[in-house]
Amino acid sequence: MIKLTVNGAERSFDGDPDMPLLWYLRDELGFTGVKFGCGQALCGACTIHLGGTATRSCTTPVSAAEGQEVLTIEGLSPDGNHPVQVAWRDLNVAQCGYCQCGQIMQAASLLKDTPKPSDQDIDEAMSGNICRCGTYPRIRAAIHQAAGQPASTTEGGKL
Ligand code: FES
Ligand code: FES
Repeated sequence: MIKLTVNGAERSFDGDPDMPLLWYLRDELGFTGVKFGCGQALCGACTIHLGGTATRSCTTPVSAAEGQEVLTIEGLSPDGNHPVQVAWRDLNVAQCGYCQCGQIMQAASLLKDTPKPSDQDIDEAMSGNICRCGTYPRIRAAIHQAAGQPASTTEGGKL
């Protein structure tokens, strides 16, 4: 029996401990903000926080979450108004939307560790989160806005 906390609620899992955390969160608990993209830790669509760290849930076994706190986008804020979510809405970041939950979870993790990130910090932290719609400039601007900064820290940088 694996005990863990998901979005603040205590849970017990008694299935295959090697099952990807993604399937438990999405298919068994119904947190559909956790998306399946590549299944190989290559795209970031499945990003959650595990013990406060941005983690690819597609390649993380449920057993790795034993005794840990798991956060999906559904638990990021009680009302959908985490500063990253507010900035995302203000700047209309999403296009098709598929990658965006993972992007937001990665961005929230970055800002927790680096509250005033540079363009370079953002590009490095977000480099593993792929967006086929190419929303990268808006993602970067929204992270700056959530950090209370201008849209770019690079001279001449723009949306
Ligand atoms: S689905 Fe997990 S990184 Fe792509
Ligand atoms: S918004 Fe379409 S893949 Fe990112």
